[in-house]
Amino acid sequence: MQSKRRTLLAAACLAACFTTPAAFAAKPLVIGFSQVGAESEWRTANTVSIKDAAKKDGITLKFADAQQKQENQVKAIRSFIAQRVDLIAFSPVVESGWDTVLREAKAAKIPVVLTDRAVNVSDPSLYVTFIGSDFVEEGRRAGRWLLERTAKLPNPVINIVELQGTVGSAPALDRKKGFEEVIAGNAKLKVIRSQTGDFTRAKGKEVMEAFLKAEGKKINVLYAHNDDMAIGAIQAIEEAGLKPGKDILVISIDGVKGAFEAMLAGKLNVTVECSPLLGPQLMQLARDIVAGKPVPRRITTVEGVFPAEVAAKEFPNRKY
Ligand code: AHR
Repeated sequence: MQSKRRTLLAAACLAACFTTPAAFAAKPLVIGFSQVGAESEWRTANTVSIKDAAKKDGITLKFADAQQKQENQVKAIRSFIAQRVDLIAFSPVVESGWDTVLREAKAAKIPVVLTDRAVNVSDPSLYVTFIGSDFVEEGRRAGRWLLERTAKLPNPVINIVELQGTVGSAPALDRKKGFEEVIAGNAKLKVIRSQTGDFTRAKGKEVMEAFLKAEGKKINVLYAHNDDMAIGAIQAIEEAGLKPGKDILVISIDGVKGAFEAMLAGKLNVTVECSPLLGPQLMQLARDIVAGKPVPRRITTVEGVFPAEVAAKEFPNRKY
């Protein structure tokens, strides 16, 4: 009887020690990610980058698409808190209005990482770090390209129309600010119309049609806060019987493949790069934060400027 009990105990020990490794393996990290939506080619590439990186690193990603609505992001964050995820990451649709929900995440001791877009909060400890582009600098780069390009033109005045991104979003506010800062010193350059196109092709086209109706051939330059709005606007310019890239200079931001195709077709003059490939860095950051390692407060993406002249050479290297 005694020896039978011993044999059973030994068997139980062996089973526990060797046959159930999953029970002892480290629990996979769980990240709740609230995405802005699917408004642009850039956003689609950003989503793919985040999903692929999580999969590759064996991280469980709870992904929520906010369809460009802040209220949906707040709901998603609250649901991540209720699910007790290890970390919350999100790309905020707009800059303001986050204090309450981020305080709830802090009270639940869930670290928060901002990706792509910044927030305006009273307490900076409400998020751990922010990874993404310097949007003000992107606006400046667009402005510097225009200054250089128009320096030798005889025109006494150069009329610019601006397609802004989503109202209240960090890229719309910052890209406007950076561009204005650079062109302010040149009295020739004048923004005659500026309106939101919500970062989408359809809205970009619609607003450009209205600009063309109101200003017609007076328009010399289009500055679009993203490539998708520029691509929509290019269609509107062509439908108005004008040549985008020639009759109207077209400047935009992102550097997506669609912009390179437009440059190769001679319809877009320059795109300022804004990289959506944030997934691998986000996963590394999440691991470090959960492991209690210190991380930088701000991680700025390194980016370039691609004028049409280099499009053919650069196109094969583009990853989004
Ligand atoms: O926040 C990044 C911006 O959002 C991209 O420039 C734009 O294409 C996107 O929708």
